[in-house]
Amino acid sequence: MIIDVPELSLVALVGISGSGKSTFARTHWKPTQVLSSDFFRGLVADDENDQSASSDAFEVLHYVAGKRLAAGRLTVVDATNLQSHARAGLVKVAREHDVLPVAIVLDVPEALAWERTQAREDRTFGRQVLTRMHRDLRRSLNQLAKEGFRKIHVLRGTEQIEAAEIRYEKLFNDRKDEHGPFDIIGDVHGCRAELEALLVKLGWELVRDDRGRPVDAVHPDLRKAVFVGDLVDRGPDSPGVLRLVMGMVAAGHAICVPGNHENKLARKLNGRNVQLTHGLPETLEQLATEDPAFVAEVRTFIDGLVSHYVLDNGNLVVAHAGLKEAYHGRASGRVRSFALYGETTGETDEYGLPVRHPWAREYRGSAAVVYGHVPTPVPEWINNTICLDTGCVFGGALTALRWPSRELVAVPAAKEYYAPVKPLFTTPARSDEGLDIADVIGRKHIDFGYGRTTVPAENAAAALEVMGRFAVAPETLVWLPPTMAPCTSSTVDGYLEHPSSAFADLRAAGVDRVVCEEKHMGSRAVVRVSASGTGDAIWTRTGRPFFGPELDEPLLAGVRAAAAPIFDELDTDWLLLDAELLPWSAKAGGLIRDHYAGVGAAGRAALCRPRCRCWSRWSHVVTTSPSSGTVWNCGRPRSPGTRRRTGPM
Ligand code: UTP
Ligand code: MG
Repeated sequence: MIIDVPELSLVALVGISGSGKSTFARTHWKPTQVLSSDFFRGLVADDENDQSASSDAFEVLHYVAGKRLAAGRLTVVDATNLQSHARAGLVKVAREHDVLPVAIVLDVPEALAWERTQAREDRTFGRQVLTRMHRDLRRSLNQLAKEGFRKIHVLRGTEQIEAAEIRYEKLFNDRKDEHGPFDIIGDVHGCRAELEALLVKLGWELVRDDRGRPVDAVHPDLRKAVFVGDLVDRGPDSPGVLRLVMGMVAAGHAICVPGNHENKLARKLNGRNVQLTHGLPETLEQLATEDPAFVAEVRTFIDGLVSHYVLDNGNLVVAHAGLKEAYHGRASGRVRSFALYGETTGETDEYGLPVRHPWAREYRGSAAVVYGHVPTPVPEWINNTICLDTGCVFGGALTALRWPSRELVAVPAAKEYYAPVKPLFTTPARSDEGLDIADVIGRKHIDFGYGRTTVPAENAAAALEVMGRFAVAPETLVWLPPTMAPCTSSTVDGYLEHPSSAFADLRAAGVDRVVCEEKHMGSRAVVRVSASGTGDAIWTRTGRPFFGPELDEPLLAGVRAAAAPIFDELDTDWLLLDAELLPWSAKAGGLIRDHYAGVGAAGRAALCRPRCRCWSRWSHVVTTSPSSGTVWNCGRPRSPGTRRRTGPM
């Protein structure tokens, strides 16, 4: 008796008292995977049988179940679960975390349960309670599916219960064991010629049928193609694109997620009433000339598509409209809807198009999310997400991302096949939406790959305060150079630091090769220059403006002019120079006047004056003696006539 349970699910055991739920749970799961109502009643009321504590107990149980599901852990609920309102609470928790609710019903004869109950000291209720439970169970059986349980297993009698074996099912979207390498291809929209050209450019060899139509493609390096959806509509040959992609998928050479356009086409082919807009009429016309058997295959193909995939050990997620982290590897209606359409704010822009929620700007996940859906002039990585829809059908290009190398390969569209509602190639105004205060406030753990450090909330707040007051604008501040680690103080006489201590430190840290370069006395400066001159700045190691506008502007103009050939050579709009700025005195003059002079003057006024002139070379030593109190001593043998100053600290 095999019971299939999705790897990540909320399993509700259903059965009358004495049906063997707790025994079943102990047999099949780890104690930490099982949340039992008895345990939670005990937790909140010191009495596992205190029915008056049930409401509080379930509140805590649901809370713990939610935490486990959020972390992606299978959770089993051991309670009678005989009433629909009790089960509704579990379905709600499962839905909130986009996991499938599963019911396993233990259906034993009431007489057997009564026999067992009588033998237990911890169950003191009468037979009529069990009878009522049994009636509830019968009523429950045909309600479970309606209540939202996606899998319902009913085990009838002790034999089936004892023979049951749990088998875990991977979710359809789980392809973590596929490592590619992949060629992930953006929205094709019926541009078959461009798709063929792109595949050839990527090294694929096309396989054609006897009429010369491409029906498959093979890569000599056994790469796998991944289509982000929107194969159809608007373009000149949607059936041709489908024929090729369906062939590649069937041969195991490609995988494909559905786009909103496939979804709508499938609804139309399934006889639903959909609006004939956004290039669907063209596709229907093209399909009308095809063999009905092919159209039927298209329908089956689209119906079988899974809305997103998690690939390569969970490092890569592909979904047509992208996917926020909480939805990766989950299964629910809203996960599918997000993957197909994205999330919209409910508003429309000046072109009547829906305003999209900027999920990518908020994304902080470690898996790269690759998607299409919204045409963009140039694919751009935003927080480890990238949109590959470069508007081929609108006269843009068809783009692929090679994984894991993250190389972009594109072919231009032969022409504009369809006029976009919104001009495609207007560069969107940069916004600072990417800056989120939640990234920098509060207690933070930072992983370096070789270690971890914790920034206490108060340190983060202090740093934010200082940066907020003194640093250049945060969106400009793309790089802060690390500070130099000082080496161990030297024991060589007359040296504060010595190369021998630096080498010893490096050797102790396991560094076996060191490159030494002559260093001029300068000041660390980060210089950002752009061809257009926007966002240019010079800042210090702590992110503060280096000079101030009077000196910055002419210096930036000079660097910009000198860098002009590099912009072309590197094909970039901006450069960042992590530099040692010379002469140091240009900055030091101001520093000496504004920062150090006052300290120096105070020092001279307070210490050893007037006779001791040691301040330039000797440090002052403060000693305390019982006889003379606190003594400032310059540490140098006193010359005749030097006055010793004493006084309170
Ligand atoms: P359980 O304690 O497993 O039942 O078994 P339950 O469904 O969880 O009951 P409630 O809802 O918490 O009250 C009840 C008694 O039956 C015995 C157990 O040892 C326990 O004493 N039992 C269970 C068997 O003898 N055989 C079985 O196969 C299962
Ligand atoms: Mg029990």
